[in-house]
Amino acid sequence: MQTAAIKFERFQHSADEECQQRIIAAREKLGKRLVILGHHYQHDGVYKHADYTGDSLKLSRNAAEVDAEYIVFLGVHFMAEVADILSRPDQIAILPDLAAGCSMADMANLAKVERSRRELSKLFDFDEVITPLTYINSAADLKAFCGDHGGIVCTSSNATKMLDWAFARREKVLFFPDQNLGRWSGYKMGIPLEQMPVWDPDQPMGGLTEEQIRNAKILLWKGHCAVHQMFRPASIIKFRNEHPDGIVISHPEAPFEVCQQSDYVGSTEYIVKTISEAPSGTRWLVGTELNLVNRLAERFKPEGKIVQFMSHVICECSTMARIDPQHLAWTLENLVEGNVVNRIHVPEHEAELARLSLQRMLDAS
Ligand code: 13P
Ligand code: SF4
Repeated sequence: MQTAAIKFERFQHSADEECQQRIIAAREKLGKRLVILGHHYQHDGVYKHADYTGDSLKLSRNAAEVDAEYIVFLGVHFMAEVADILSRPDQIAILPDLAAGCSMADMANLAKVERSRRELSKLFDFDEVITPLTYINSAADLKAFCGDHGGIVCTSSNATKMLDWAFARREKVLFFPDQNLGRWSGYKMGIPLEQMPVWDPDQPMGGLTEEQIRNAKILLWKGHCAVHQMFRPASIIKFRNEHPDGIVISHPEAPFEVCQQSDYVGSTEYIVKTISEAPSGTRWLVGTELNLVNRLAERFKPEGKIVQFMSHVICECSTMARIDPQHLAWTLENLVEGNVVNRIHVPEHEAELARLSLQRMLDAS
């Protein structure tokens, strides 16, 4: 039976330990009606409650496969949107704090992408020449734009494959919103840097000359992740001087020079897998979000692996951190009472086109 929703204020000042007990109790009551998906960047205080953990690709697949009535996403807004788009219409996707956005995703929006398309259409037939490719870290309407214009979505674990998919169809790619992932992926495919100019959506014609655009293979949207942008090649040089046998692994959202100087580059799931499969006694410098690195350091300490964070400054994703035990307890207790709070629902006309570009990715990866 549905009652009036319980207000968050009742949880706001509750101690973490009390919230942990309430989460466990609510989960028991909800049983199989609930599934919790948790991204690797989440705090341990909520991450430990996840039924499935992973990177954005793995969690998208989980969202498409799980049977539960409620899918609670411990992550950021675009991830819960993907869960809503890929799940059945009778399933409900929930984000415990609606303020958990992704600042990189916000660097592109439909108005700017449409304007870019109009400008590029002065030089070519956009739909003949350019495949729009959006990183999954983007709003649903941009995924819908890609669905509508023969484009596709990628994640940090399949970007080169999706570029292959795109180049098999058209000669150029407009890649948004993360220039670092686009540049690193193109570089691995052998595309020269001068054929991957930065497209600044706030400048007429992206701030590029006609010649630069005609010569380009990938137009890299001027966007980045503020968290990964903090990593510096100097930290890698220092680490290698101090630990010549040390191994460096980074996320492809890190700056190009950091990826170039790393031994391995890959998604969060790839980072977890690579370190877990490494021999004991190895030492790692890791260039990705702090919560994940701290968790890896604790997890692998008993196996004699040393895991170090790449930066001296704190690189935590503050929006991921919005999902705390208080918000999770509040969300679940409301579900027990029959109240859905913070539902993420993408309108069907948009979801249909976004599903098309996501499905192209799932089929191609
Ligand atoms: P993953 O695809 O590795 O999960 O990365 C998502 C993300 O937001 C990294 O900042
Ligand atoms: Fe977005 Fe960066 Fe946070 Fe990932 S780490 S969710 S890209 S702001």
